[in-house]
Amino acid sequence: MYFGVDYYPEHWPKERWETDAKMMKEANMNVVRLAEFAWSKLEPKKGEYDFSWLDEAIETLTRYDIKVVLGTPTATPPKWLMDLNPEIYPVDLYGLQKGFGTRRHYCSVNSTYRELSRVITRKMAEHYKDNENIIGWQTDNEFDASCFCDHCKKGFQDWVRNKYGTIQALNEEWGTVFWSQTYNDFDEVVIPRYSSSDGFTQSGEGSNLNRPPFNHNPGLLLDYYRFKSDAVVVFQKIQIEEIRKLSTLPITHNFMGHFSELDYFDLGKDLDFISWDCYPNNMWGKSNYTQVSMAHDLMRGIKNKNFWMMEQQSGPCGWQAMGDTPEPGQIRLWTYQALAHGAEAMIYFRWRPALFGTEQYWHGILDHDGQGRRRYHEVAKIGEELKSLEDLFVDTKNINEVAIIKSYDNFWSHRIQPHNSKFDYNELLNEYYTALNKNNITADVTSVDVDFTKYKLVLMPAFNLMTEDIKTKCEDYVKRGGNLLITFRSGTRNWNNSMSTITNPGYFKELAGIELEEYDSINFGRSVEVSGEAFKGLAKTWCDVIKSNGAQVLATYNSHYYRGKPAVTVNQYGKGQVYYVGCDLDDAALSDFIKSITEDMLITTLQSNSEGIEIVRKEKEGKIFTLLMNHNNYSIKINIEGSFINILTGEAVKNQMYMEAYGVAILKE
Ligand code: GLA
Ligand code: ZN
Repeated sequence: MYFGVDYYPEHWPKERWETDAKMMKEANMNVVRLAEFAWSKLEPKKGEYDFSWLDEAIETLTRYDIKVVLGTPTATPPKWLMDLNPEIYPVDLYGLQKGFGTRRHYCSVNSTYRELSRVITRKMAEHYKDNENIIGWQTDNEFDASCFCDHCKKGFQDWVRNKYGTIQALNEEWGTVFWSQTYNDFDEVVIPRYSSSDGFTQSGEGSNLNRPPFNHNPGLLLDYYRFKSDAVVVFQKIQIEEIRKLSTLPITHNFMGHFSELDYFDLGKDLDFISWDCYPNNMWGKSNYTQVSMAHDLMRGIKNKNFWMMEQQSGPCGWQAMGDTPEPGQIRLWTYQALAHGAEAMIYFRWRPALFGTEQYWHGILDHDGQGRRRYHEVAKIGEELKSLEDLFVDTKNINEVAIIKSYDNFWSHRIQPHNSKFDYNELLNEYYTALNKNNITADVTSVDVDFTKYKLVLMPAFNLMTEDIKTKCEDYVKRGGNLLITFRSGTRNWNNSMSTITNPGYFKELAGIELEEYDSINFGRSVEVSGEAFKGLAKTWCDVIKSNGAQVLATYNSHYYRGKPAVTVNQYGKGQVYYVGCDLDDAALSDFIKSITEDMLITTLQSNSEGIEIVRKEKEGKIFTLLMNHNNYSIKINIEGSFINILTGEAVKNQMYMEAYGVAILKE
């Protein structure tokens, strides 16, 4: 198994490299990622390349048996390059060009930059093609897609021309007759820059400089998100092409978990494997453990394949300020959490915090003085423990009978028009994930293209944009005995973001065996009571007032003028069932509801009784093992049915087990 760290030899005097390599080796490391921001060191002036320092760094690491993943440095084009080609700078939604001084200062649509990115990638690939210490490539660093420049405008016009063929078709799909927006030619098509009615988001904040404003035509906005995402896929493909001409090594990119500005399913297609960057606790926020686990599951779901951690938090993190310092045991817990959900290599960010630059505070394993203290010793110990497990996590499968479907198109559509200002698509998915987790049910988080028939239950919360093909896929799955769960704001729109004329819930009307009489967007602190046999709770965002066309009613509203009307239903369709949840539910109600429906489906779980204990089952070569993780900062005694051996300690476990704060156990039957 690969175990290592992100390393920046270019930030340190050469004399230190040997010490670093030695300390890495002593910490059981065998891999580093290098060079992903080092363009100005690799090509200090136009056409003058210097790989000597990187060669030497790699040589030093090699002497300590440390392999290398090389990053292409295109996230930080150097100053000389920007001075020669200032049109590469991205532009914000007010049309203001951004300048030099941070990173990601390029537009991925810009053809000059695409070419320059191709050249530096080729140069690196040429130079390193025969170096046996390099084991893989990373494209760029944490792709994003924000730009509103003239290249984007031209690119978008070409993109819509290609998509719609005729301007009449575009006018039709977007409904440009509204507010006299009809275009006579593709050259007239605008991009969603700041326009006269823009300036406010739904929640009353100012427009975000980086993201499309909200008040443009919803068809245009959605297509702009798609175009920007596609442009990054093309940008990345150019690098992949160059590397593949010269090398057979696997290529990855470091993804960002729940980040949803790009369609990660598309971006992952050209890569050999996915890797990602996980910071559960930094200056911008602290994630619940279910958010982290769900992000891991989504990263696995991009290719339905195991992934790597390319940057795993290993110290206090932040730019101007810092998040909490990882407590003793937390780095180990995060490590096992990643491995549990499908990581098969662990690379921590970063080796030693920089003495300078924006990320002076972004700590890693060492401290500024180059000393290894508690975090270093913890990491070294994790490395030792993982060695003793002998690749247990490599080529290992997660066993899941449930899938949650994520759609970036739907994310964008809900971002553009969230129906209720409190509604957040990703959050809704996380609420369902958390409810499953509370019932010790793990899930795949993946795209609608996945084979549904592998699963006992498929959840498609707020899957609003629909096509006939997806509808047919859902019907076939349910007919043959599958269970499908859909929610409010499902099926009411066509794929290009216009409203469907089919009575709500639109594309799901027959499947769900219901129709909506009306709906109520819940605002300003109001809530509506909902109750059924299995649960009782409050809706605070949305209530669909349902009329059953044959579906069985599982819960009704208990307050407001639609009291007594159905809120949650289930419909028998062929051999399967379709659950329709017409409102949002608080955590306890949702968890009780999920419990009631999954019990009927005989979904395999390993029961434990405790809050904050995560259970993940995995399979390797036909043998099953189970990870137990205590996400609480206190020790706890848990009940767990059966007899096991904890392979981390060799101890026998029968029905009960004691877990340390942030403790981990791996149980074999
Ligand atoms: C990201 C980047 C890293 C580093 C960290 C901390 O994950 O990939 O280069 O900047 O954030 O900000
Ligand atoms: Zn641009």
